[in-house]
Amino acid sequence: MNIFVTGGAGFIGSHTVLQLLKEGHDVAVIDNLSNSSEEALKRVEELSGKKAKFYKGDILDRKLLDAICEENDFDCCIHFAGLKAVGESVEKPWEYYNNNISGTLNLIAALKDHNMKNFIFSSSSTVYGEPKVIPITEECPKGTCTNPYGWTKWMIEQILMDIYKADNDWNIVLLRYFNPIGADSSGRIGEDPKGIPNNLMPYVTQVAVGKLPKLGVFGDDYDTPDGTGVRDYIHVTDLADGHIKALKKICDKAGLCIYNLGTGKGVSVLELVKSFEEANGITIPYEIKERRAGDIAMCYSDATKAEKELGWKAKHDIVDMCRDSWNWQSHNPDGYR
Ligand code: NAD
Ligand code: UFG
Repeated sequence: MNIFVTGGAGFIGSHTVLQLLKEGHDVAVIDNLSNSSEEALKRVEELSGKKAKFYKGDILDRKLLDAICEENDFDCCIHFAGLKAVGESVEKPWEYYNNNISGTLNLIAALKDHNMKNFIFSSSSTVYGEPKVIPITEECPKGTCTNPYGWTKWMIEQILMDIYKADNDWNIVLLRYFNPIGADSSGRIGEDPKGIPNNLMPYVTQVAVGKLPKLGVFGDDYDTPDGTGVRDYIHVTDLADGHIKALKKICDKAGLCIYNLGTGKGVSVLELVKSFEEANGITIPYEIKERRAGDIAMCYSDATKAEKELGWKAKHDIVDMCRDSWNWQSHNPDGYR
């Protein structure tokens, strides 16, 4: 198939492009490189032996999208492009709503005008807000988000559902990712956050590599087994695989489908630190800090729907994730720079 990947130079995008190329698909990427580097795509080419077409540009640029759609005959679009920093979204709501929502509307319009109605969207477990049921099934109602980033995912899901309702020619798969970490086992591509990382695993690996002195653990008085926050960490390679399976679903005329992509297993902050230390033989100094505003105690998936309907199941455990995250960081202490 010929796949149009937005945001394909980013963390999850680059791993998915790699998998798509390995599976024999043709790939064209659009990315404005606002949070990524073209080097990621060069390394994907080195790993797969195949080249993805690359358009450096913005999904807000309708003329460019039209030109790309005219030049290529796409079978499906996988839409990763978006801004994703939770804290920054509170400071810059307009930028987040404009980039993520206007960008998606623009993309959808261009695809529709070229009669390309197969679409896979990167959503997030954040749409569940404070979840009503744990483990979280897809039937769990969407909740109230605590930041503009989360609302963009919430609203884009609604927009896509309404678009499908009005026109059943669309095939749309909404993938709700839990917490992606890890890296390709080659250690050549991985997560490369700008500045001080906000997320747990990149923070841990930067402590391990000596760039940061110690980890702050945000709260140890949650109603969880050890008091620290529990999340469903998922290996980015498994996540990439989920997109390959979603593509097969699209070929079977998916209609509109929603899937959680998680392992179904909750891991606390302290458990993750311990797994990292055991997997890599490195001690991570940490101190307990205040709770972080907007955090919830516990968030993990019921991943059975994706297994039943997509034949997809996460293969990697937390030890694999810790080993591969460290393999990437230790070989690339400054990321792609
Ligand atoms: P990322 O920042 O590494 O990748 C996003 C890519 O989109 C970047 O390469 C960026 O340069 C590009 N981009 C942003 N705005 C653009 C625009 N207007 N035009 C063109 N390119 C643009 O992030 P990621 O972790 O790979 O996430 C991919 C998607 O998955 C995002 O939509 C994100 O919100 C979603 N998601 C991520 C997580 C996570 O924890 N990483 C969890 C749930 C959902
Ligand atoms: N944490 C720390 N110290 C840190 C960073 C995080 O203790 O320095 C804790 C958090 O309090 C939380 C857990 O580690 O309990 C995970 O935090 P992350 O920031 O790594 O991930 P979140 O679950 O908060 O959110 C992430 C993305 C969201 C996305 C969500 C679900 O940032 O955008 O996963 O996919 F919506």
